[in-house]
Amino acid sequence: MADRIKQLVSHLTGTGMSAGVYTKSFGIMRGGLLPRGDPFICSVAHRAFVELWQDVPLAPPDSIFQLTAAYKADTFKDKVNLGVGAYRDNDNKPWVLPVVKKATSILLNDEALDHEYLPITGLAEFTNAAAKLILGSHSPAIKEGRTVSVQTISGTGANHLGALFLSKFYKWNGPARIYLSNPTWDAERWLANHHAIFRNVGIEPVEYAYYDPKTIGLDFDGFIDALKTAPERSVFLLHACAHNPTGVDPTTEQWKAIAEVIAAKKHYTFFDCAYQGFASGDLDKDAWAVRYFVELGLPLLVCQSFAKNAGLYGERVGALHLVSPNTETANRVKSQLSVLQRSEISNPPSHGARLVSLILNDARLFEEWKRDIETMAGRIIEMRRELHRLLTEKLHTPGNWDHIVNQIGMFSFTGINPAQSKALVEKGHIYLTGNGRISMAGLNTHNIEYFGSQLDAVVRGTVSS
Ligand SMILES: Cc1ncc(COP(=O)(O)O)c(C=O)c1O
Repeated sequence: MADRIKQLVSHLTGTGMSAGVYTKSFGIMRGGLLPRGDPFICSVAHRAFVELWQDVPLAPPDSIFQLTAAYKADTFKDKVNLGVGAYRDNDNKPWVLPVVKKATSILLNDEALDHEYLPITGLAEFTNAAAKLILGSHSPAIKEGRTVSVQTISGTGANHLGALFLSKFYKWNGPARIYLSNPTWDAERWLANHHAIFRNVGIEPVEYAYYDPKTIGLDFDGFIDALKTAPERSVFLLHACAHNPTGVDPTTEQWKAIAEVIAAKKHYTFFDCAYQGFASGDLDKDAWAVRYFVELGLPLLVCQSFAKNAGLYGERVGALHLVSPNTETANRVKSQLSVLQRSEISNPPSHGARLVSLILNDARLFEEWKRDIETMAGRIIEMRRELHRLLTEKLHTPGNWDHIVNQIGMFSFTGINPAQSKALVEKGHIYLTGNGRISMAGLNTHNIEYFGSQLDAVVRGTVSS
């Protein structure tokens, strides 16, 4: 027995040390991992346990969550948080949509509700209505039974499931690659969100030109060029509306030109739609590009989130919709998506999907939701106008600020550089990401003058880090 333990110790530590060494550490082990265990085994197990994870590198904290923590710890009374990607009302408070309150109370009073598992692909009333919301109620793809819809863990889960499905089944023309806009949704460049989601499933992210810092607008020629030069049947991730982080969307004419090249090159479109309704205030308008691509018969999938447009951030309600060429293919795709979903989350959570299902399937609640969306989008659009007015008419801040009103959705790329962003955080107590992105939802009638004056100061260089 003693020999076995010596062997075991030597094997686990690779040091050839004798078991006697470990008996000395018994005192430490008392009250530790296995207080009443055999001292030899305790020592061996403890050493092995320590060694097991000692090479795990410490990952940097998520920059957005770190920014929020720094904002919370700041005692300056006029501090401003422009980092967070969640809607805030004019008093800087999270907003529970009135329609969501109504739907919640309906659910609470529904005696027939139980807590059983949902089907693997989710609540059918939810996924069917969600598909109509993004693809349009008269969508040919829905009518012809070519759409596969699976309920996911919000938009992130839809991106993941879509990526996982492609990693297993897409007919790659060369190495498995996803073309992502530069920049894209990534809290920390390369580390989180889009880049990480695809890397996690073995798809290599490559960037396509999207944002032009010189114009603070779309690098349309660069984008078209990337589409043209990528190998045929490449996969391009496109933000359906309200591009995160730039707020820069193609115009309708530009979308048409993009679709034309995508069709010619037989590319696959991976639409990410996290802000339907949030961009313009109109659910149909914000779904235009997706519907146009479907109409053209382009192969695509859409990731859909209800975090922002329904204010259901924590409920994790989303869906993945994949448009197939025919019903038969759709059935096969659905069967494989079910297998993947089963192995990862078994089945999706019910509460948020029930809430959204109620709202989407009840004409009265749906109309109310549209008004709530208009309230949120309208406030954001109003803040854009006011910031533009302050910078151009009141402060006469150097530079052109038209991009503030030309951009769309929750985020705006201000065009300021990392040093100016840092100065805003350190000197102005205004929290934003280093790339100069601000969340318009963090501005309100109480803090916009202060923000405008601080932005003016860093642009003029009278305040620096
Ligand atoms: C472009 C984009 N895609 C997807 C998401 C996913 O969000 P969620 O998982 O909260 O639905 C976000 C959220 O910020 C986003 O900006």
